[in-house]
Amino acid sequence: MEIPLLSLLVYLPIAMCGKSINSAHAAESPIYTVIHSESDFQIRLYNESSWMSSLVVGGTSFKEATRSGFHRLYQYIHGANFNSSKLEITAPVLTSIALSPRGNNYTVKLYISNEYQGRPPQPNPELMLQLAKLGTQCIAVRKFSGFAKDDNVSKEAEALLGSLNKQLTGNSSTIDKSSYTIAQYNAPSTSSGRLNEVWIKMSGLTVEGCPPSQ
Ligand SMILES: *[C@@H]1O[C@H](CO)[C@@H](O)[C@H](O)[C@H]1NC(C)=O
Ligand SMILES: *[C@@H]1O[C@H](CO)[C@@H](O)[C@H](O)[C@H]1NC(C)=O
Ligand SMILES: *[C@@H]1O[C@H](CO)[C@@H](O)[C@H](O)[C@H]1NC(C)=O
Ligand SMILES: *[C@@H]1O[C@H](CO)[C@@H](O)[C@H](O)[C@H]1NC(C)=O
Ligand SMILES: *[C@@H]1O[C@H](CO)[C@@H](O)[C@H](O)[C@H]1NC(C)=O
Repeated sequence: MEIPLLSLLVYLPIAMCGKSINSAHAAESPIYTVIHSESDFQIRLYNESSWMSSLVVGGTSFKEATRSGFHRLYQYIHGANFNSSKLEITAPVLTSIALSPRGNNYTVKLYISNEYQGRPPQPNPELMLQLAKLGTQCIAVRKFSGFAKDDNVSKEAEALLGSLNKQLTGNSSTIDKSSYTIAQYNAPSTSSGRLNEVWIKMSGLTVEGCPPSQ
């Protein structure tokens, strides 16, 4: 099932701007609590959650990989699953970037809407999607506005790493510097008031409220 790009661009704004049109129908998001706050980043504790995940191997463009991965997720929530179930759009769309000189891998993920969290329908095999269960974990988050672009997502990640190194020295943590995640909350057609975040997973962080590393 091919869905023209146009319908993607038309569809998302309706779903994701639904907030302002009908506040009773905000896009669902995973649950978290803020356990530490600085002026330029937060540490959040996310509850365990299920996501549908789309791997894009060997690319160089964050933007293209996100588009291609999201396209498959879009089909899944629109019925390309074993039950022909329709799932609600959620926010944010995550793109995790695993850096490699031979081509980066990008994993695009969409949170499974609350109705299906515990029992996500199986995706049609041709979509090559995988269920990703994230455990309870602490994530360092830096917000940025505008469009998340190829030429500055890595700068946002470096800025977050810089803040973490400055503020959390002594609070031992293993930061995996070879990967980071960009969270986008708005459709491509939304041009003002855009919210994005860069996420870096913190393992072994000795901050009050974070689970011990597994
Ligand atoms: C965390 O997730 C579990 C399992 O999905 C759920 O039972 C629990 O209610 C959630 N906790 C909160 C605070 O929402
Ligand atoms: C990218 O994914 C492929 C296929 O799963 C894997 O063989 C390769 O090691 C991955 N590369 C990186 C940088 O994660
Ligand atoms: C999918 O359909 C089967 C058979 O009708 C049903 O048992 C199952 O609960 C459904 N799963 C979901 C996620 O709706
Ligand atoms: C990235 O671009 C956005 C929008 O163009 C801008 O708001 C943000 O400050 C930029 N970040 C960096 C680190 O340049
Ligand atoms: C870092 O560790 C110190 C000592 O263990 C603790 O007092 C401090 O609250 C920690 N910092 C954060 C952000 O939790």
